[in-house]
Amino acid sequence: MDNSNVIINENSATEKLELIAEKIRRCKRCDLWKTKTNYVPGEGSGYSGIVFVGEAPGREEDIQGRPFVGNAGKLLTEMIEEKLGLKRNQVFIANVLKCRPPNNRDPLPEEVEACKPYLFEQLKILKPSVIVCLGRHSASLIFNHFNLTFPGITRIRGKPFEIAVEWGKLRLIAIYHPAAALYRPQLKEHLEKDFSKLKEFVRMDKKSSKNKLGLKTKNKTLKDFFSELL
Ligand code: URA
Repeated sequence: MDNSNVIINENSATEKLELIAEKIRRCKRCDLWKTKTNYVPGEGSGYSGIVFVGEAPGREEDIQGRPFVGNAGKLLTEMIEEKLGLKRNQVFIANVLKCRPPNNRDPLPEEVEACKPYLFEQLKILKPSVIVCLGRHSASLIFNHFNLTFPGITRIRGKPFEIAVEWGKLRLIAIYHPAAALYRPQLKEHLEKDFSKLKEFVRMDKKSSKNKLGLKTKNKTLKDFFSELL
């Protein structure tokens, strides 16, 4: 199979994502750059078609410049690997805010306004088929952006929504933030259940005959497809 197209497309997506990351690392659109240690643009790949969106970097993320690398990140990574059977670097992980709010306070509306174009630029490049919103801040921004009503995380968590977007079909699902599950262990059960739903999504997605790069895969799963390239 001639796979030169895939490599060129994937490289150009990676390059475009890196250009956005560079732009983020120079950002002064709100005051958070003054108190942050590192910008946290996001990381991973578009291979699986799944993007996880959290709220904002915490202490550990601020130190390392990487998303979800603290305790909540350990839980998220565990769920991605154990429940979805994917490697962390096969999904893309980003946040609504790219800088840590002091003392992990909630994002301010003006900070979300200033920062959100970066996230939507990243999504346009990644063209995901599934966006998983982690917690209410992420869900409210993303649902509103795609003209869906957001009635609150408790009411919609675990419910999949399918919409048509400029790059095709997009499934949105909001789940509890992993940090919430760490503080309130009774939420962990919900989180695990919702991840199992997510697994069905991913499987559905793998059945699709076209991957997000627009290349026919003859009903192979994306995993099969890319493992053939290695
Ligand atoms: N919580 C988030 O919302 N994002 C991170 O990157 C880490 C913790």
